[in-house]
Amino acid sequence: MGRHRGSGHFLLYAFDLLEVIYREAWEHALPGKAEQPTLRETYTSREELEVALPGLIVGRNLFGVDIDPRAAQIAGLSLWLRAQRCWNEADVAPSDRPQVRRTGIVVAEPMPGDQELIDEFADQLDPPLLGSLFRQIASSLNLAGEMGVLLRAETELAGTISAARDQFVVESTRPRRLPGFADAVPGKLDLSGIDDEAFFVEASDRVLQALHDYSVRAAGSGGARRRLFADDAAHGFAFLEILRHRYDVILMNPPFGSGSILAKRVFEKAYPMTKNDVYAAFVERGIEMLVERGTLGALTSRTGFFLSSFQAFREEVLLDRAPPLIFADLGQGVLDDAMVEVAAYVLERSK
Ligand SMILES: C[S@@+](CC[C@H](N)C(=O)[O-])C[C@H]1O[C@@H](n2cnc3c(N)ncnc32)[C@H](O)[C@@H]1O
Repeated sequence: MGRHRGSGHFLLYAFDLLEVIYREAWEHALPGKAEQPTLRETYTSREELEVALPGLIVGRNLFGVDIDPRAAQIAGLSLWLRAQRCWNEADVAPSDRPQVRRTGIVVAEPMPGDQELIDEFADQLDPPLLGSLFRQIASSLNLAGEMGVLLRAETELAGTISAARDQFVVESTRPRRLPGFADAVPGKLDLSGIDDEAFFVEASDRVLQALHDYSVRAAGSGGARRRLFADDAAHGFAFLEILRHRYDVILMNPPFGSGSILAKRVFEKAYPMTKNDVYAAFVERGIEMLVERGTLGALTSRTGFFLSSFQAFREEVLLDRAPPLIFADLGQGVLDDAMVEVAAYVLERSK
């Protein structure tokens, strides 16, 4: 959309705000989460805080998804440049700046479609249940490129992950029957208490490590194909992680119109209340991805607030799940070249 399309503007504003929040939290020695050290305890001097600050914001607080790889690259680069500006302003010498290794910006893309490589890789995963989990994840991400964040892969996989966890617990307490388990799972770990979340973190760590090893081993003919496969599969995992998270704040300026989604049939089935315009579906999905009392800020077409075709959106999505806190009816001329009357609003997810 015009020159602003996908460049991560909201993330840059969020960066400005988080910078202030971190400094204030440090200044006033505010308590952090229970049992975790405060910022003041972790970074004993202001200089130490300034060295760490951009990496904390970019690596832990900000996330973004786009189906367009160029948009994701530009957003990643904007954040990287913003981090450098933060260090410049705090006079942190380039040699003292930690490398920004990862950002939370992810391209929504499917796992590689090469069934032969999926099978080859999945078959060598140990324990074998990781192989079947990997296959199911790959298939649940099939439409990632078309549906983007509208894909509810985390819900689709919830049952699979739970079943794999149960199997994992049973098998790992019988190490002699299943050779290989004893090494993979340190005996001291009490696996009976492992929840789905902890299991998934453990499982994805192992799959990612296996993908890395697979890529390193890939040599000779077919080597490039395997390395590409490993790379794409790792991106698929990163996208799934974004979908599995629940967020305090979600900001969006989604696409709009009835025809702007490619997987139309799947989309309409998944969003019966909001299928008349994709932006409403983005709002519905955004609300799902919030924590309780989390807030969603959206800049969208204003039609949803008065057209009769949006009645379900108003009654069952907005009023039921996340009533508006603030609403600004902005009208024409807000989004560069887009011919659309716009509203900006903030919703709060109900308990
Ligand atoms: C209007 S632009 C948003 C620009 C952004 N607010 C900014 O300031 O840079 C809409 C963006 O949504 C992306 N998009 C469209 N469908 C998507 C989907 N299903 N999942 C994720 N991103 C999507 C488009 O590629 C585009 O970059």
